[in-house]
Amino acid sequence: MVLSKKFVLAKHFVGKPSSDDIKLVTEELPDEVNDEEVLCEAVWLSVDPYMRINVGSLSEGDVMMGEQVARVIASKNPKFPEGTHVMAHFGWKSHTLVKDVSVLRKVPDIEDLPLSLTLGSLGMPGLTAYFGFLEKSQPKSGETVLVNTAAGAVGSIVGQIAKIKGCKVVAFAGTEEKCSWLKNELGFDQVFNYKNIDLDKVLSSSVPDGIDCYFDNVGGHFSSVVLNHMNTQGRVCICGCLSEYNVPAENTLKGPYPFKRILFKELSIFGFIVWKCMQRADEGRKQLLEWIKSGKLIYKETITEGFENMPKAFLGLFEGSNVGKAIVKA
Ligand SMILES: NC(=O)c1ccc[n+]([C@@H]2O[C@H](COP(=O)([O-])OP(=O)(O)OC[C@H]3O[C@@H](n4cnc5c(N)ncnc54)[C@H](OP(=O)(O)O)[C@@H]3O)[C@@H](O)[C@H]2O)c1
Repeated sequence: MVLSKKFVLAKHFVGKPSSDDIKLVTEELPDEVNDEEVLCEAVWLSVDPYMRINVGSLSEGDVMMGEQVARVIASKNPKFPEGTHVMAHFGWKSHTLVKDVSVLRKVPDIEDLPLSLTLGSLGMPGLTAYFGFLEKSQPKSGETVLVNTAAGAVGSIVGQIAKIKGCKVVAFAGTEEKCSWLKNELGFDQVFNYKNIDLDKVLSSSVPDGIDCYFDNVGGHFSSVVLNHMNTQGRVCICGCLSEYNVPAENTLKGPYPFKRILFKELSIFGFIVWKCMQRADEGRKQLLEWIKSGKLIYKETITEGFENMPKAFLGLFEGSNVGKAIVKA
C-alpha cells in the first residue's frame, strides 16, 4: 500500500484564505496497478492565485485544484513506463492512481533546465505573459509599458519580454528586495514599491509622457489611477485582479467609473485568459526557452520544501512571500 496525502477544502474561504480552510487527509492506494493503469508520485506542485477564485466551484471536502509534475512509480501502461515524468491537473495530492491516462501529458522537452519550470516560466504563467502581453498589448519598440506584481511569476516575464521588444518598463512590486531584483538584475527602467508611494503623484512626476501598454494583474484602485495616465490609443491587458480576490462579495469595490477616460483616450481594453491559448503552448514555450537559454530571460522561483507546506506556499501568494514563481517541492 502507498499512503497518499491530499489537501481538501475544509470550508469555503471568506475574505483572505486561512490555513484552517484547508485540511490534510490521507488515503491508502494499492502499490500494484491493473492493466492500463499508472501510479504517480508528485515531484513539483504549483500554487497559483487563480485557485483563490476557482475554489468557488468546489464543494467542501473536495481536493484543492492544481497542476503538478509527477513521476510514474508503477505502471502497466506502455505509453507511460515507470520513471516517466508527466504533467496533470491532479490537484494537491502526493500520489494519484490513474485509470484513464488521457489526463496525462508527458513533460515537454526543456533540455537541461529544471522540470519545475514547466509549471512556471515555461508553463502556464510564462505562456500567460507571452500570449497575453504580445497579442493583447501589441507593444512597439520605444513604447512605455507598465506592469504590476512585477516580481511575480507572470509580471517578471511580462517586464522582460517588454525589454526584449525595446520598450521602457515601469514596474511595481511590494518589497524593497523585489524592487532591487527588478531594477538591478532584470534591468527594468523605473521600479516602485507600490506600498510606499502615492501612485498618482509618482506617475505624474516620473512617467510624464504617459503609458502606452498597461499589463494589469491587480485591478481595483491601482488600475483606476493608471487609466488616468494612459496615452491616446493605449492598450490595456487585464490579466488578473489580485487586489479584489479576497474582498468579500458584500464589500465589492465601487467606482470611480473609467468610461469617459476610455472613450476620449480611445483605449483598447482586453481581458485575457491563458487556457484559450493552450493549444499553441509549444509555440510560446519554444520562444521562452530560446530566450532563457540565450540569457535574455531570467527566471526565479520561490521553492517551498515539503508537500505538507502546500497551504503555506498558497497563502504566501497573498502576503507577497514569493519572488518569481511560487512552487512546492514534494
Ligand atoms: N488571465 C490568466 O489567464 C492568468 C493566468 C495566470 C495568472 N493570472 C493572474 O496574474 C496575476 C499574477 O499571478 P502570478 O501567478 O504571477 O502570481 P505572483 O505574481 O507570482 O504572486 C502573487 C503576487 O501578487 C502580489 N499581491 C498579492 N496580493 C496583492 C494585492 N492585494 N495587491 C497587489 N498585489 C498583490 C504579491 O506581490 P507583491 O509583494 O508585489 O505585493 C504576490 O507575491 C494574478 O492576478 C493571477 O490571477 C492570470
